[in-house]
Amino acid sequence: MRYLVTGGAGYIGSHVVLALLDAGHEVVVIDNFITGHRDAIPKDVEQHDVDLLDYHATSNVLAKKRWDGVLHFAALSLVGESIEKPFHYLRNNYQASLNLIQLCSKYAVEKFVFSSTAALFGGPDRCEAISETASIQPASPYGESKYMVECILRWADKIYGLKSTCLRYFNAAGADPFNRAGEDHSPETHLIPLTIDAALGRRPPLQLFGLDYPTPDGTCIRDYVHVTDIAEAHIRALECLNEKSTAFNLGNGRGYSNLEVIQSVERVSGRRVPWEPAMRRLGDPAVLVADSSRIKRETGWSPRFDTLDKIVETAFAWRAKHPYGYDK
Ligand SMILES: NC(=O)c1ccc[n+]([C@@H]2O[C@H](COP(=O)([O-])OP(=O)(O)OC[C@H]3O[C@@H](n4cnc5c(N)ncnc54)[C@H](O)[C@@H]3O)[C@@H](O)[C@H]2O)c1
Repeated sequence: MRYLVTGGAGYIGSHVVLALLDAGHEVVVIDNFITGHRDAIPKDVEQHDVDLLDYHATSNVLAKKRWDGVLHFAALSLVGESIEKPFHYLRNNYQASLNLIQLCSKYAVEKFVFSSTAALFGGPDRCEAISETASIQPASPYGESKYMVECILRWADKIYGLKSTCLRYFNAAGADPFNRAGEDHSPETHLIPLTIDAALGRRPPLQLFGLDYPTPDGTCIRDYVHVTDIAEAHIRALECLNEKSTAFNLGNGRGYSNLEVIQSVERVSGRRVPWEPAMRRLGDPAVLVADSSRIKRETGWSPRFDTLDKIVETAFAWRAKHPYGYDK
């Protein structure tokens, strides 16, 4: 099969590129490298330095070949930054996706898989695992932009028959178990790489935002899902996407507190993690855990990296081998 991957130079996209290649598929990448890394794409993969906001340049790539599917990762994804620059986020995530989906409809692409997010459910505090039927209440322009793309996809199916799966990832984490790719965001805002860097003495003490949440140890609880398991979910989604468009929540189904992340990094690295308490951040819910029973039931997906230590081991191995990330 031949797949077009947008944002294939990014963290999750690059792991999915590897999984598609490992499964014997042909892959072409579109990326504008705004946050992605050229070194994250294997050398023999065709890549186009194109901004999806450029309709004509994107059209030129889509028109070149017949596509069995498009996997759409390209986005800006910092919640805090999206509150500072709402229109920038809505333009980049919504307008760029509108261009892409319009072109997929025009060129009769059969299958579309979209990187959606738990930020759809960001509003109220919920303690129970979040299923697909939970109410959608984005608490940021980032979350809203992702929901707007889900809405475009609903109409693209109704009117043009474009079949899509929206995968709403919870917290992506970890690195390729063969150390071919890893996490390198700039600025880094994700807890596991920040904690690893603090353990390695590459950052000042880790700040823990809020120790007074209504959780057993007072820190926030999140659901970490390994990036290779996310990649596997894309392969399953493509295989199972035939008659019906759908959306799946994607997580491990078990939450870990921020303090448990610190303890896991200490176990895996054998080093102490220096940390200090900090004020709660606006809009951080106490608990965000996925109910992933629907994707398991409907596609047979199940996470291989099902404990925090397994996830942290791969992240630590990559970070130890690439102390300054890609391109450096
Ligand atoms: N990392 C997570 O925990 C997480 C959780 C939920 C959802 N997501 C979603 O998954 C996707 C991938 O996330 P990531 O962590 O790999 O992010 P990333 O920033 O590493 O990757 C995004 C990629 O998209 C590219 N890009 C952005 N805007 C573009 C545009 N207009 N045209 C072309 N390329 C563009 C960037 O250069 C980058 O390579 C995003 O859509 C994100 O919203 C991520």
